[in-house]
Amino acid sequence: MKFFVDTADVDAIAELNDLGMVDGVTTNPSLILKSGRDILEVTKEIADMVSGPVSAEVVALKADEMIAEGRKLAQIADNIAVKVPLTWDGLKACNVLTNDGHMVNVTLCFSGNQALLAAKAGATFISPFIGRLDDINLDGMQLIADIRQIYDNYDFETEILAASIRSVNHAFEAARIGSDVMTAPPDVIKKMAQHPLTDKGLDAFLKDWEKTGQKIL
Ligand code: G3P
Repeated sequence: MKFFVDTADVDAIAELNDLGMVDGVTTNPSLILKSGRDILEVTKEIADMVSGPVSAEVVALKADEMIAEGRKLAQIADNIAVKVPLTWDGLKACNVLTNDGHMVNVTLCFSGNQALLAAKAGATFISPFIGRLDDINLDGMQLIADIRQIYDNYDFETEILAASIRSVNHAFEAARIGSDVMTAPPDVIKKMAQHPLTDKGLDAFLKDWEKTGQKIL
């Protein structure tokens, strides 16, 4: 499973990147706002830091304008994936930008049918939003499973990018189902290392080690 980091915080990306944990980065207008940075500047900085795809999102609603914005964003670096929303115009823009040779991430996906259309339009990535479905008492993880089945039925090459990951359980379930990629906030990725039995076991080992009176270094 590929790990994308869902943030425009360059320091947080750098920390995980140094550990070899970052296969890509996703941003969106809300994350750009949170960073307080200029979109072109911060996206360039991130794209120079990581070798994998860096998603940068268009904000226009009409296909022609999305295409123009997407082409501009794609000029930032070779590893930019243009992010377009899953609307009819977004699908048109996806098709044109894909034919241009750009990676395209179709975002705000909330149904299997939407994911099917994105694959037909040639999307590189489809981003189903797990947490936001859970927020309205629907089963976000079931959507990942449904898309996995649909794409496998027809050998679509579009990669499932599980998004709106809010917890370590989301990350685990997405991996178990076979999502190709997950994008998660840095703190969720770091929390995946935690287990109370690890802490308890380490504490016991260190207490016993102290009793031996030995040193390794
Ligand atoms: O990857 C999409 C993500 O940024 C949305 O997450 O938590 O705002 O639903 P959230």
